Amino acid sequence: MEKISKVRGTEDLLFEDTRKWHIIEKIILDVATKYNFQELRTPIFEHTQLFVKGVGETTDVVTKEMYTFDDKKGRSLTLRPEGTTGAIRAYIEHKMFGYDNQPVKLYYLGPMFRYERPQKGRQRQFNQFGIETLGIKSAQVDAEVILTGLEVCQKLGLKNLKVLINTLGDNESRENYRNALIEYFKQYESQLCSDCQKRLYKNPLRILDCKVDHDKEIMKKAPLLKDYLSAEADAYFNNVLDILINLEVEYEIDNRLVRGLDYYTDTIFEVVSLNKESGAQSTLFGGGRYDGLIASLGGPEVSGIGFGMGVERMLISAEIENPSLFDENYLDLFVMPLDSAVQNYSFKILEQLRKMDIGCDMEYFNKSLKAMFKYCERNKIRYALLVGEQEQANNTFILKDLVNNTQEELSIELLSTVKERIENNA
Ligand code: HAM
Repeated sequence: MEKISKVRGTEDLLFEDTRKWHIIEKIILDVATKYNFQELRTPIFEHTQLFVKGVGETTDVVTKEMYTFDDKKGRSLTLRPEGTTGAIRAYIEHKMFGYDNQPVKLYYLGPMFRYERPQKGRQRQFNQFGIETLGIKSAQVDAEVILTGLEVCQKLGLKNLKVLINTLGDNESRENYRNALIEYFKQYESQLCSDCQKRLYKNPLRILDCKVDHDKEIMKKAPLLKDYLSAEADAYFNNVLDILINLEVEYEIDNRLVRGLDYYTDTIFEVVSLNKESGAQSTLFGGGRYDGLIASLGGPEVSGIGFGMGVERMLISAEIENPSLFDENYLDLFVMPLDSAVQNYSFKILEQLRKMDIGCDMEYFNKSLKAMFKYCERNKIRYALLVGEQEQANNTFILKDLVNNTQEELSIELLSTVKERIENNA
């Protein structure tokens, strides 16, 4: 019979993988909590219009990459391609702008879907950890968002990275810039790809982010936003940079950074991995401020800022830069019945150990001692608890420390001391 395989661009995470994910997820949750972000869980699918309005109708994400389908009542729904717009929808729907605790600081962690060409670090179903701080515009908050992401990198042991930062300015700056871009690109209209020809008058900023036109000579000479910044937007950006300098955060200003989603204003940033082995997809996390998004989706005129972090990409980098992060063993002890007659006695001990919160398992196949030790070695289990007919008769057990290669026979009454021994040697 023909086998049905997984969908291109999706992954099964097997046991070794999920263990690594748990380690990364724990670090992410600890950092988010420490910085006072609270978890928001929104649905995996939303009304298509939310993303069209929020992300922007001329973006690649909306025009080419969304998984959109009609439900049985003919409503157009879309699997979320990113987390910000859904979070803002929930913020407005639940009137979070009225909460006593302001600004609202939220995070999310979960799958996103984009129909992109799969390659290392780029999937069609991928996971994002994202944070958003809503209801305030403040340079400290801009810095805080970047620092939260960098702290996750640091806790994962990632050092080989670069912070790229730029500003898209306020509405006035962008309007001036928009006009300058139209003036510039209309001279070269025929050299632009067909998508960019459509974008020229609608959304010329998107041309700068086009994957097709990216390397063309005309891109290099395009006007830069920094030359159109209002005094206010310039001062705001410089304040953000000052804070980063004061905190000794190294960054590089990238005047050509625009990001691929339409909602950004003022500060934008991307943190890229410099590991060659990470593949072409090197942006670990990226984000920025959005002044108009919340109002455009029906909320109040308040500002927000956040980032989205690709968890798969963080994992790839951690495997390269800090493989020992994943060395953690999950079982402390393995119970080894030396004879089939002692299986029940062994099983009772096993259950008693579990009640003491010791991570343990036992051999059910009556395997040889050699095979059982091999199992411990393979699974990095430090302690073996051996029981034979003699131990059963004497109400004892043998505890073997496989690292120090020592062993002792203990009375069953001393089973409760096993936990202490494990903890003392941890
Ligand atoms: P984004 O740059 O589109 O921003 O995505 C953020 C991160 O998600 C990327 O830097 C990358 O690590 C990861 N990512 C994106 N697409 C893929 C893919 N196909 N496969 C694997 N990883 C991927 C956003 O999504 C914004 N919502 C971020 C944001 C939050 N801005 C403000 N708040």
